[in-house]
Amino acid sequence: MQNSRIVLIGHGNVGTALVRLLSEIDPKGRRFVFSGIATRKLGIIELGNVPAPEVDSAIHRVLAERRTRDLKQTDPKEIIHWLETWEYDVLVEVTDSNYTDAEPALSYLKTALRRGKDAVTANKAPIAIALKDLRTIAARTGARIRFESTVMDGTPLFSLFTESMPPVRIRRMRGILNSTSNIVLDFLNQNRSLKEGLAKAKSLGLTESDPMLDLNGFDAAAKLTIIANAINDADIKMSQVMTQPLTEQNFAAVRSLSASKGRDTIIRQVAVADFDKNFYRVSLEALKQDDPLYSCNGSSNMIAFSLDLFTELIIASRNPTLRDTAFGIYSDLMHLQHTVKR
Ligand SMILES: NC(=O)c1ccc[n+]([C@@H]2O[C@H](COP(=O)([O-])OP(=O)(O)OC[C@H]3O[C@@H](n4cnc5c(N)ncnc54)[C@H](OP(=O)(O)O)[C@@H]3O)[C@@H](O)[C@H]2O)c1
Repeated sequence: MQNSRIVLIGHGNVGTALVRLLSEIDPKGRRFVFSGIATRKLGIIELGNVPAPEVDSAIHRVLAERRTRDLKQTDPKEIIHWLETWEYDVLVEVTDSNYTDAEPALSYLKTALRRGKDAVTANKAPIAIALKDLRTIAARTGARIRFESTVMDGTPLFSLFTESMPPVRIRRMRGILNSTSNIVLDFLNQNRSLKEGLAKAKSLGLTESDPMLDLNGFDAAAKLTIIANAINDADIKMSQVMTQPLTEQNFAAVRSLSASKGRDTIIRQVAVADFDKNFYRVSLEALKQDDPLYSCNGSSNMIAFSLDLFTELIIASRNPTLRDTAFGIYSDLMHLQHTVKR
């Protein structure tokens, strides 16, 4: 079996976690080697097909050889041009989520797919905003795009639906999809501050580069959109998902309403979709003890699905870490390697 040459765009929390995971499980590069890496600050680094354990030293060597220390950020156009010409088999795209237009990540992915190169991403924005376009390009060139880590990290959510269940339709779903908000809510539920909770989530590498994307419900709304479009083959836009920001004021309002009804509840950020009613929302809910989502604490994620051909399916991941996100990318890479390209 020939190894696959990876080009990695983005070398932050998730990118470094992937290199670390592959260093552990594929130290000799029998399955995967790194052909190159690019980020805004590092620029473009051509590595020459090194196995994962050699990535860091190869980066340092290339940087040391650069005569000038260029502090300006790399123009995405340069990276796109490089992706059009450089040799690789699969693009792994793990840059920041931009919910305005998903750029430049969307262009990175399109460039690889147009060349017939496979692509794997953990970045929600291009999948939430442009999955249809990306699939159209991939269908034209025979390339494949996978995005398991965009929702619930490494949990096999999309592969479960697409590979293990014959076509089913989600009728309704309720889920806890954003780890940062869930950790913040653990703190607020224990009468501690939002700031402390956010600091905890940051220390675990779980927050978005702009943590407001977690707290204002955008991250969960993007995940809901991806699930709808990828599994139900719907065409919903992120703007159709109503979002309620997680603030100390909103938390206090939901808690006092629940207390006034004499209920023993816990407050969580819940993403709800009702496909029969075309209704999508991310908001704070007071959950009673008999709610399946009640026990979902810490960075855990959980979704309860009601399907047309299956009564109720509950999927959970308990306190996922960056290693689990990296595992999701690895499982996508393995899938691409094991299956035949058209
Ligand atoms: N962290 C998690 O737990 C998690 C879980 C699932 C999915 N995700 C998704 O995975 C992606 C990466 O997350 P992360 O936590 O690794 O973020 P991060 O630590 O902020 O790293 C982002 C990386 O992307 C690079 N980058 C940003 N803009 C770029 C551009 N225009 N061109 C090239 N490189 C660019 C950054 O480079 P510079 O440092 O040089 O600017 C950095 O290396 C995000 O889309 C996130 O939503 C994250």
